[in-house]
Amino acid sequence: MSVNIAVVGTGYVGLTTGTCLAHLGNDVTCIDVDEAKVERLGRAEIPIFEPGLAELVAEGLSRGALRFTTDAPAAVAGRDVVLLCVPTPMSADGSADLTFVEAAVDGIREHLAPGAILVNKSTAPVGTVRQIEALVGREDVRVVSNPEFLREGSAVRDFLNPERVVIGADDGEAANRIAYLHHRLASPVVLTDPESAELSKYAANSFLATKLTFVNEMAAVADAVGADIDDVLLVLGLDHRVGQAFLSPGPGWGGSCLPKDTNALLKVAAAAGHDTSFLQAVWDANLRQVERVTAAVVEAAGPGGHVAALGLTFKAGTDDLRDSPAIDVLRRLVATGLQVRACDPTVDAGTAVLDGVEVVDDAYAAAKGADVVVVLTEWPEFADLDFAAVAASMSQLQVVDTRNLLSPGLLTHLGFRYRGTGRR
Ligand SMILES: NC(=O)c1ccc[n+]([C@@H]2O[C@H](COP(=O)([O-])OP(=O)(O)OC[C@H]3O[C@@H](n4cnc5c(N)ncnc54)[C@H](O)[C@@H]3O)[C@@H](O)[C@H]2O)c1
Repeated sequence: MSVNIAVVGTGYVGLTTGTCLAHLGNDVTCIDVDEAKVERLGRAEIPIFEPGLAELVAEGLSRGALRFTTDAPAAVAGRDVVLLCVPTPMSADGSADLTFVEAAVDGIREHLAPGAILVNKSTAPVGTVRQIEALVGREDVRVVSNPEFLREGSAVRDFLNPERVVIGADDGEAANRIAYLHHRLASPVVLTDPESAELSKYAANSFLATKLTFVNEMAAVADAVGADIDDVLLVLGLDHRVGQAFLSPGPGWGGSCLPKDTNALLKVAAAAGHDTSFLQAVWDANLRQVERVTAAVVEAAGPGGHVAALGLTFKAGTDDLRDSPAIDVLRRLVATGLQVRACDPTVDAGTAVLDGVEVVDDAYAAAKGADVVVVLTEWPEFADLDFAAVAASMSQLQVVDTRNLLSPGLLTHLGFRYRGTGRR
């Protein structure tokens, strides 16, 4: 049975969700306030880098099962289900900023059909469903939490093959109707109350942040005691209770979700009177990792030196630069007076990402005259570079490999001074 759905917000989550739900046989209208984006999407032009998404958008448009509009009132009228997929960025005080959620609800509440289910997919603090209920102010509309767990870079695959679907609702019938949207996906469905659903999303992201922090801490300890983090992590990951995923060091975790969600959980827990020293320690340790990486590059480059930065996005496989630790490190390098040239497979040469950073076509252009190459994002193509050609144009042969992506043996053989993260 096809369900009539409206999706508010066409970013990584909204566009993927709306497109996949149309692909699964539903009738979907996606709404955005960004007119230019809506116009492009109507022509099947995808503004983000997300494998498989363009094909599904084109398929949905051609079947008439998917459409895009800026007219929210008309788009939600008569719809059975309306999904909120708008941003919930970090406020200046670290808590989640719900302005976009409030504005989206304000723009549609009078136009929702009687019996409609309003679903919050945006990551939001415990209590947000209750706030939305109060904002909507209608007995005939039910509000449900359905946090999204997809990852950028594999959003379509993750949406269509979720590890779990979480539905937080007081009303069993509303919960079942949202569960039905996922009935063609083979995944466990967890039905719970709104508060537990909301907390589960924050807990998931904060756990991942904690795991990455632990790995970076162990890498620093390995550096200090002369152990090799690659071997240590191999041993850790072979324990199924730990698992091998998210066991790689880096310049600190970042991106559009982990920092804001970890901070928002801190605020939620503090507001509830909980001692947040554990989460605060995770946050502080991540900051120290960024500082450690920065210090290693500064030491290698020398005063006023030239840095070639490989990678700008917060991880490989995405074009998302929001809260990227790579950018954070570069900002600090520029502030110490270093000259920085950077490249990234998803960022065009000449793009203004940061004052004082010149974005060039590729690693070879970035390395010209550089005193040190720093690997900041784990794009696999960086491991396949011709390092003899890279070396030929550098002033000094030095590499700081924050992701432990490169081969120390090869680089040392070519004459580089190689510094990994916790590598012997
Ligand atoms: N990006 C991820 O990997 C990811 C994963 C899981 C959950 N989330 C959560 O999902 C939510 C959305 O994240 P995103 O990355 O998709 O955001 P995004 O910034 O990529 O997209 C949000 C879209 O919403 C639009 N928008 C803002 N206000 C609107 C309004 N009133 N009406 C209609 N459209 C409006 C914006 O123009 C934008 O196109 C956030 O709460 C985020 O934390 C994100």
